[in-house]
Amino acid sequence: MTEPLWWQKGVIYQVYPRSFNDSNGDGIGDLAGVTARLDYLVDLGIDAVWLSPIFPSPMADFGYDVADYCGIDPRFGTLADFDALRDAAHARGLKLLLDFVPNHSSSEHPWFLESRGSRASRKRDWYIWRDAAADGGPPNNWQSFFGGSAWQWDETSGQYYLHQFLKEQPELNWRNPDLRAAMLDAMRFWFERGVDGFRIDVLWLAIKHPDFPDNPANPEWRAGMQDIDRLLPVHSADQPEMAEIIAAMREVADGYPERVLIGEIYLPIPRLVAYYGETGNGVHLPFNFHLLDARWDAAALARLIADYEGALPADGWPNWVLGNHDKPRVASRVGPDQAPVAMMLLLTLRGTPTLYQGDELGIANVQIPPDRVRDPQALREPDTAFNRDEVRTPMPWDASAHAGFSTVEPWLPLNPDWATRNVMAQRDDPDSMLSFTRTLLQLRRTHPALSVGSWHAVSSDGAVLAYERRHGEERVLVALNLSDSPQTLALPDWAAALAPVLTTPGHDLRVEGTPLPLAPNQGILLA
Ligand code: GLC
Repeated sequence: MTEPLWWQKGVIYQVYPRSFNDSNGDGIGDLAGVTARLDYLVDLGIDAVWLSPIFPSPMADFGYDVADYCGIDPRFGTLADFDALRDAAHARGLKLLLDFVPNHSSSEHPWFLESRGSRASRKRDWYIWRDAAADGGPPNNWQSFFGGSAWQWDETSGQYYLHQFLKEQPELNWRNPDLRAAMLDAMRFWFERGVDGFRIDVLWLAIKHPDFPDNPANPEWRAGMQDIDRLLPVHSADQPEMAEIIAAMREVADGYPERVLIGEIYLPIPRLVAYYGETGNGVHLPFNFHLLDARWDAAALARLIADYEGALPADGWPNWVLGNHDKPRVASRVGPDQAPVAMMLLLTLRGTPTLYQGDELGIANVQIPPDRVRDPQALREPDTAFNRDEVRTPMPWDASAHAGFSTVEPWLPLNPDWATRNVMAQRDDPDSMLSFTRTLLQLRRTHPALSVGSWHAVSSDGAVLAYERRHGEERVLVALNLSDSPQTLALPDWAAALAPVLTTPGHDLRVEGTPLPLAPNQGILLA
């Protein structure tokens, strides 16, 4: 193997800028706030920070509606603040990743204002406009991810435009060469400014079937599921032309040393891995979200890991995600007792982990009082069980007013247990989730088997998930009890020489014997 690159060895940490740290007392996080907390991230032991969108935006979808791809929203600061953050990150050896949103812009973007101005506009074709159906209704049956039709009628120019999210997020037309060139220029703008890579928003949606046929009905749709799931996205997602667009993005990235492209892609494994590209011309990391909805069961997880490992192309580097700003918190999905086990899994599997802010404190979903709901998806589809605000609440830094996040009431409420579940309270407590996460991250640095080694299943019974990581002579064994009852693991012979080096908080590290006993919810790492 050639020397692993930083994004292969390293760990990515997602910052949701609105909720990380507020430096100017407006209740909203900002770039100077992130800069002020970089030492926390260094101490934690991560390698790269990915910032959710910080570009000028009307904030209809909290920055995923971009009104200028080459600027900074004044709520987050200025380009000078961005440069200061970049320099401070790089000075500490941290990489800095931005969020690139190619599928749609804001309806306030000057391009869209021009496009909607008239059918003859030079930028008309930069967006997706279609005539009404014969009955005057939308051109086809496509649905928005946020509920309702994906088409919005524009009275002035007498056509519908496509939006698979909010109507304030019109979709860009990647079949238009000028639009494509303008978007690739936006990527270059940030690469020139020293950005180390991009997470690319809803990448698998960026191009649609040229004829816009109806999507077929989903036979598995049931009441209670979201509108979008009524149909199978056969013609609105994951189209063959995607490969060529990604290759163009990759060519831009490859023009700079060691830049990384990470694609947001919610697809089954066989389709997901196609986004590595056939000849190294895909994204470096198609985000693997399969842990987000995996059944929390040893056999199911072992199968998932083996399926994913087995599906990767020869030079495809794996990656794993346990949480993000769109999905329920891991501590709520698996429960507080299993949250450390889940963290141990994330940080010991083979491949680049992405850690979502606050998961290192074990924060759970935060119930949001109805009058404080801000998530546009939840406001449009109030009946769906989950509201994204629940995982976007401010980082609790300490037990002072507003948790040290802000000097005023933050835009979303804090986690109710913020007075005790915060960075300051956990930092020096050896039994905290934060200390545990920090130690895991240190172990990844000191044990190449964990950061770059191969992965091998270890056979186990019942509720234990066990595997080996191996690099040269170094072998590490990870055993995770996914249940709340005691379990044992028959240790393989080669593991007899290993010693326990880390266990989940509150558990005894002095385990020995074979079979290896595991307390309820205990994870253990032998090296
Ligand atoms: C992605 C983002 C999500 C956003 C959507 C539309 O899924 O992660 O937050 O609402 O794209 O841009």
